[in-house]
Amino acid sequence: MRKPIIAGNWKMNKTRDEALQFIYNINMNLPSNKKVESVICAQAPILRDLVKRQGEELRIGAQTMHESDTGAYTGEISAALLANIGVEYVIIGHSERRAYYNENDAAINQKIHQAFRYDLTPILCVGESLETREANETDVFVKGQVVEDLKGLGSEQVKNLVIAYEPIWAIGTGKTATSEMANETIRNIREVVRDLYDDETADAVRIQYGGSVKPANIEELLSMSDIDGALVGGASLDSESFLALVNAAVK
Ligand code: 13P
Repeated sequence: MRKPIIAGNWKMNKTRDEALQFIYNINMNLPSNKKVESVICAQAPILRDLVKRQGEELRIGAQTMHESDTGAYTGEISAALLANIGVEYVIIGHSERRAYYNENDAAINQKIHQAFRYDLTPILCVGESLETREANETDVFVKGQVVEDLKGLGSEQVKNLVIAYEPIWAIGTGKTATSEMANETIRNIREVVRDLYDDETADAVRIQYGGSVKPANIEELLSMSDIDGALVGGASLDSESFLALVNAAVK
């Protein structure tokens, strides 16, 4: 059985005070990490504060990181620093990073390798645009991303990473992929992993859905055979809403 994982991607939202209030609100109310992994991915300058105040059941993640160890990369964040301050997860290859900061699959692949060097759990994002979906090329496109992004990883690493399938057209738009549509693409991703690795790896890797997930639609999404959790933007910003999402994964 794959343990569900609900991750909030706060993107560029919340001041330190707002973030600490949120953590205070949820800390005592989160279900056991044995039943569901609850992760908050926040802006880099407050990660250390969140790690210091995270309750036993919460995990903290970053939203991006650089693929090099150190160097002249103004504004970037290293895996070494994230690990050093107690961050445990890192989102890699979010469609906003791919679109606005030209992150390509080769760099994303290097970032995943780098994350593992520092024992960070990568949450690898893949997903198609509306044009690709409408041209019926979703499966081929997403397969291409998965093959490129996982290059050179061992099966133990793949078992330990998280893939988030986020159709770009469903992000922040209020348009959710139907649960059948999301499940079908996620099952296809799992089959790509099966072809690249083996049954054990494919059955172990956790694949989330992301894109306008809310308390009102999460139960249906999680009831599908291959959806192992959610990567949530807007609906993760409110503590009650985040708790509702996490609790839905326990049922
Ligand atoms: P929304 O939940 O706001 O659609 O964002 C999804 C997302 O991009 C999470 O990474």
